[in-house]
Amino acid sequence: MASKPKSRWADTEADAELDAKLEKEKQEKRRKKAEKARRLEEEKKQAAATLAASRQQDDNDDDDRPSKRRKVTPEPGAASNGAKDAAPRKLLRYESRGWDKSRSVENYERLNDIEEGAYGLVVRARQKSTGKVVALKQLKLTPGDAEGVPVTGLREIQILRACSHKNVVGLEEIVVGDNVSKMNNSIFLVLEFLEHDLRTILEDISEPFLSSEVKQLLLQLTSGVAYLHENWILHRDLKTSNILLNNRGRLKIADFGMARYVGDPPPKLTRVVVTLWYRAPEVIMGAKEYGSAIDMWSVGCIFGELMTCEPLLQGDNEAAQIHKIFELCGTPTEESWPGFRKLPNARSLRLPRTTTATGSVVRTKFSTLTSAGVALLDSLLALNPKRRPSAKEMLNHEYFRQDPKPKPESLFPTFPSKAGQEKRRRHEPHAPVRGQAAALGDVDFSGIFQDRDKEQRGAGFSLRMG
Ligand SMILES: Nc1ncnc2c1ncn2[C@@H]1O[C@H](COP(=O)(O)OP(=O)(O)OP(=O)(O)O)[C@@H](O)[C@H]1O
Ligand SMILES: [Mg+2]
Repeated sequence: MASKPKSRWADTEADAELDAKLEKEKQEKRRKKAEKARRLEEEKKQAAATLAASRQQDDNDDDDRPSKRRKVTPEPGAASNGAKDAAPRKLLRYESRGWDKSRSVENYERLNDIEEGAYGLVVRARQKSTGKVVALKQLKLTPGDAEGVPVTGLREIQILRACSHKNVVGLEEIVVGDNVSKMNNSIFLVLEFLEHDLRTILEDISEPFLSSEVKQLLLQLTSGVAYLHENWILHRDLKTSNILLNNRGRLKIADFGMARYVGDPPPKLTRVVVTLWYRAPEVIMGAKEYGSAIDMWSVGCIFGELMTCEPLLQGDNEAAQIHKIFELCGTPTEESWPGFRKLPNARSLRLPRTTTATGSVVRTKFSTLTSAGVALLDSLLALNPKRRPSAKEMLNHEYFRQDPKPKPESLFPTFPSKAGQEKRRRHEPHAPVRGQAAALGDVDFSGIFQDRDKEQRGAGFSLRMG
């Protein structure tokens, strides 16, 4: 910087010294101001970067703590999708009742334990004032869990509070113990009580359900699923142990611990969902985007299970599961499932080079099922999620109109209730546990067809190596 011209008043040495001192102080002030402005600018940049990173994290893994507001509409000005995006955006609004202070669990008298699941204990209880029998589902809180109530529990409460449908279990209220920090004294969902779950009935009955009974159960299940999907809810853990049945033939979908709201376009979702035996192939193949078709795959698995009393596809791990799926539903091709090769876990998948395309053997396995029934089951178990029917479409399927007609609920047989007896423990895989998403790596499918060097027989069909 050019030196300041000497003041004409600085005619003494003392004056000159004072001038120099003042000038120095001024310069120091200017420097500090510039430094402060620079620091402020840097802080602003850093805050913006942290915000962007936390948004990214929130979108990447929906097992994380939920943000106060989850954005379901794209950012204004985000990559446009042509004319479709030109329409005015509407904000999704979910009706919810107000929040009141929860009552105490002391209002209920414990009758017997029903089951201890992955996320909590379920007990049968009686409301002291009315004598009404209910199911109390305890939310398991891990002591010292920095996140407090697990997000799965929060979602279960939020979704059940918003739902009202004859085929979805009713949530009556939430009650709490005196000391929420104590494990055995925490938060309970008060649910309407149903005498059975389908898995327990299927384990106990000596004869499989009649076709008319399968139809009635499937119809009710599909009505419940259609209601959820219409209301932007994915259940993500449909299986027979999560489907309840009362002694009047009414079916209700339960266990919303894995469920969540989705928007359009869908948010990024965790890949660790649905109990393995009911998990859709696109989820096993690591698809980053999935939708209501994953629930429809589970409905297909449940349809098969209702007919045979056995879970349809029982793999010990993901590789065995996808192997069993391909044995039953055929191996995928670029035509039957465009883009499947690009899915993250398809890299390690080496399918046998067959001379003839291997197709579905659903018809062979369910030889007593009518052709409409086979067509429906085959479509639910389509490898390509886009080929599966929606729940709404399924309700209009010919299968339900053909004879034998769905048996009326009032004529449904009754079964002895196990939920009214002692505690049970199941021998089936559980829903994925929170936090597994972090450990999710590539699944190695390279060995699943390796022993098939010549010809091997699968579930009633053969795979020939090229
Ligand atoms: N409202 C209810 N009425 C009667 N029984 C119920 C009710 N809700 C749940 N149960 C029973 O308790 C079991 C476990 O309940 P739920 O599936 O909701 O809990 P969970 O802890 O998520 O279980 P899991 O991890 O095994 O799926 C069900 O399979 C069913 O047998
Ligand atoms: Mg369950």
